[in-house]
Amino acid sequence: MKVLVTGAAGFIGSHVTQVLLARGDDVVGIDNLNSYYDVNLKEARLEWIADTPASGDFSFHKMDLVDQTAVDALFVNEKFDKVVHLAAQAGVRYSIEAPREYIESNVMGFTNILEACRHNSIQHLVYASSSSVYGANESIPFSGKDNVDHPVSLYAATKKANELMAHTYSHLYGFPSTGLRFFTVYGPWGRPDMSPFLFADAIVNGKPLKVFNYGKHRRDFTYIDDIVEGVVRVLDVNAVPNKKWSGMTPDPSSSKAPWKVYNIGCSNPVALLDYITTLETVFGKTAEKELLPLQPGDVPDTYADVQALIDDVGYKPSTTLQEGVEKFAVWYKEFYKV
Ligand SMILES: NC(=O)c1ccc[n+]([C@@H]2O[C@H](COP(=O)([O-])OP(=O)(O)OC[C@H]3O[C@@H](n4cnc5c(N)ncnc54)[C@H](O)[C@@H]3O)[C@@H](O)[C@H]2O)c1
Repeated sequence: MKVLVTGAAGFIGSHVTQVLLARGDDVVGIDNLNSYYDVNLKEARLEWIADTPASGDFSFHKMDLVDQTAVDALFVNEKFDKVVHLAAQAGVRYSIEAPREYIESNVMGFTNILEACRHNSIQHLVYASSSSVYGANESIPFSGKDNVDHPVSLYAATKKANELMAHTYSHLYGFPSTGLRFFTVYGPWGRPDMSPFLFADAIVNGKPLKVFNYGKHRRDFTYIDDIVEGVVRVLDVNAVPNKKWSGMTPDPSSSKAPWKVYNIGCSNPVALLDYITTLETVFGKTAEKELLPLQPGDVPDTYADVQALIDDVGYKPSTTLQEGVEKFAVWYKEFYKV
């Protein structure tokens, strides 16, 4: 297969690219290498991909999703079979500071991807949604059957918008699309703006550690390899229409169109303070903690019901928190020469 991976220099995109290349798919990666966080880390991920022996071919284009002409030309020239769309302006808190970045990359950029998929007979579009779409929903664990009409950040609203836009395209043009709601992903090459990484940074460098919601909230931390395994399994099983779907009792996670959304998480939520304790044990250092209230835009708990993904593609997260944090720490120490 020839696969386009958008956001290939990103955390999840670089890992997905590695796994596809290892199994023999050809991958074209695009990314605008923006400076939302350390560009050196993004470039180092691309070097990591280039330096890892693989069966498939990899090429990379520095490109902005918002550049419609460039995106259209790429699709016409490369003739992709499938697309894994992971490029986005990520982060809940930054969406309060810089809302327009989210509309540009996540709404305009996504429109360009949908249009290009439509005009180039893409067999399956798999794209990143987020657990943040659950917003004000308090029914735990979060299920694809839950209503997600109450986002509490613009980031979440753009991810929910992506699911709706993809539905329209799958309905109108019949191309299969699957949205994956990722739950707090952590691991080697992780994102420096996210709590798993910020905590490690504070512990290692003896900085006071900001713990929001007084450490009481629980996160369904999911190890990167489990996420990637799920993404690739989903990519291989094109979304199909749900023949039993009824407009009288509409299931929000499927459709008469070839469209699906799934949760993809560990399904084992951990209190923030327990996650920090595991990190402290692994790094052999304790941190001074600054206990703070819940941040605007944050949700108190996340917990994925992943039964649909287990049933449909055989997804099975297998990495324990201890194993995952140890692997993350090994990478962190080596990369930052701690
Ligand atoms: N990491 C998580 O825990 C998590 C959770 C929920 C959802 N997600 C979603 O998963 C996807 C991947 O997340 P990640 O953690 O790898 O984030 P990331 O920021 O590391 O990767 C995204 C990449 O997209 C690129 N990008 C952003 N805007 C672009 C644009 N306009 N044109 C081209 N490239 C652009 C960035 O440079 C970055 O390298 C994102 O859509 C994110 O919203 C991630």
